[in-house]
Amino acid sequence: MRLPLDDTRSRIAATAAGLIFLVGSCAIQAVPAPTTRPTPAPLPTLNPDRIAQGRAIYSQFCASCHGANAEGAPNWEQPDARGDLPAPPHDDSGHTWRHSDTQLAEIILGGLRDTFNKTPELTMPPFSGRLSDEEVSAVVTYFKRLWSPEHREFQEQQNRRPSMPSPSPGGAR
Ligand code: HEC
Repeated sequence: MRLPLDDTRSRIAATAAGLIFLVGSCAIQAVPAPTTRPTPAPLPTLNPDRIAQGRAIYSQFCASCHGANAEGAPNWEQPDARGDLPAPPHDDSGHTWRHSDTQLAEIILGGLRDTFNKTPELTMPPFSGRLSDEEVSAVVTYFKRLWSPEHREFQEQQNRRPSMPSPSPGGAR
């Protein structure tokens, strides 16, 4: 036969269990639900002096092939007589913004070989020894000035990724 006291005890136990459950589910609720699109970190501000420095270096060393305003060679998507692709734009219409800062510095310092270029010369000459790391980074800052916020955001994401294998010469598009 059950004593009334036993009954009270089991009711208290049940209530306590219920409370613990409630508190537990509240704790779960308190964790913010993961948002599908995290708010992107604000884009780093570009220093106007670095842009100007980069633009000056660009005009001296790069504009002859890539165009006065980084618009690329005319018909840059058509292979030339040798089968090489002409110099692409660095503004929003090209694909420079797809590469991380590290990859861009590697391309600029090391030069680039077109996939179809089997000659001893590189398609784009290397600038290592002619431009310092700091000058190369200034040129890249100038390019960033030409990109839309969406493309800049994409490029910043590439910068935040763990280091990727270096692009093979000519394979980086
Ligand atoms: C003699 C012509 C020439 C000069 C000078 C030159 N480039 Fe290039 N560059 C090219 C060509 C051609 C390509 C494309 C090669 C290929 O992929 O076939 C290229 C590709 C690039 C790319 C890769 C773009 C991409 O989206 O894959 C970058 C970055 C670049 N150049 C930056 C520079 C910078 C910065 C300078 C000046 C410091 C410079 N280039 C000077 C001819 C030149």
